[in-house]
Amino acid sequence: MHLSKRPRRLRSSPTLRDLVRENAVTVDDLILPLFVSEKVTGRVPVASMPGVFQLSEKELIAEALAAHDEGISAVLLFGIPEVKDERASQAYAKDGVVQRAVRVLKAARPDLLVITDVCLCEFMSHGHCGITHFHGDQAHVENDASVELLVKTAVSHAEAGADIVAPSDMMDGRIGAMRTGLDAAGFQDTIIMSYAAKFASAHYGPFRDAAESAPAAGDRRTYQMDAANAREALRETALDIEEGADLVMVKPGLPYLDILWRVKERFGLPTAVYNVSGEYAMVKAAAQAGWLDERATVLEQMLAFKRAGADLIITYWARQVAGWLAGKK
Ligand code: PBG
Ligand code: ZN
Repeated sequence: MHLSKRPRRLRSSPTLRDLVRENAVTVDDLILPLFVSEKVTGRVPVASMPGVFQLSEKELIAEALAAHDEGISAVLLFGIPEVKDERASQAYAKDGVVQRAVRVLKAARPDLLVITDVCLCEFMSHGHCGITHFHGDQAHVENDASVELLVKTAVSHAEAGADIVAPSDMMDGRIGAMRTGLDAAGFQDTIIMSYAAKFASAHYGPFRDAAESAPAAGDRRTYQMDAANAREALRETALDIEEGADLVMVKPGLPYLDILWRVKERFGLPTAVYNVSGEYAMVKAAAQAGWLDERATVLEQMLAFKRAGADLIITYWARQVAGWLAGKK
């Protein structure tokens, strides 16, 4: 048969495939999320996230340093406080669980990038991401008063030594307020990575077990975005960039690759994707059942993030991926 084009020619050997490959995942794309809890000694497994633990401060340091030794350059910290209240006081306490962990971590390993999730839900008795008033089972989350607490939280993280603060609350105007607050406190160089396009998603279920942050009543649909909306995601991202975000994030990852692609194409900023807890749990469960090859599936998914435009990938698999990339089985 005469064919003028035979695309298979370029796939005929591993060497050729390597030669023409368009995208690759590297270890320096990876960010490892970690949970530090005031309530545990040692490590407590998260049932819905096999391989993920709530860590004591000591274990957190050990885990972060081990990851850094394997080539992971950044960790994303979440804190679980002993005490929760209606004003999320422990979110911005000088000696809060996150602030202490950041201080110890930066002292132990100054060149490990420490990113802190900035939100109030883990610190609120009701689990919402802002100051909330309940009317029956209806939750009304106040915007502007919540932003004030979020700014205090971000500044307290910067004071502790965080390199990057990552607000995940989805209140309006938080990035601008945070930039102003950080600058006023002398933290012009603290980077803001905004959860810019964050959707209200069923895929956060396992995380809320890990972070003990499920809302007691109501849901997050009045602040996180509607899964049906792509143009709105671009408007949200544009706002965060105008307000001073240095890095933007799309979350969740796999079900929202279209959003990731559009955000990267439209704005061209360094763009992060969050491969969230539910995405992790799905593959873990299938792998444990023997239905999927975990390594092959995860590496393919990481590549999908890169192909869709991700510069940074936040994933609970960061350490395993680093190992696989280094040739471990
Ligand atoms: C806190 C926060 C959440 C996640 C990151 N930061 C949960 C939520 O918004 O309910 C989800 C991460 C994951 O599912 O892995 N606002
Ligand atoms: Zn939150």
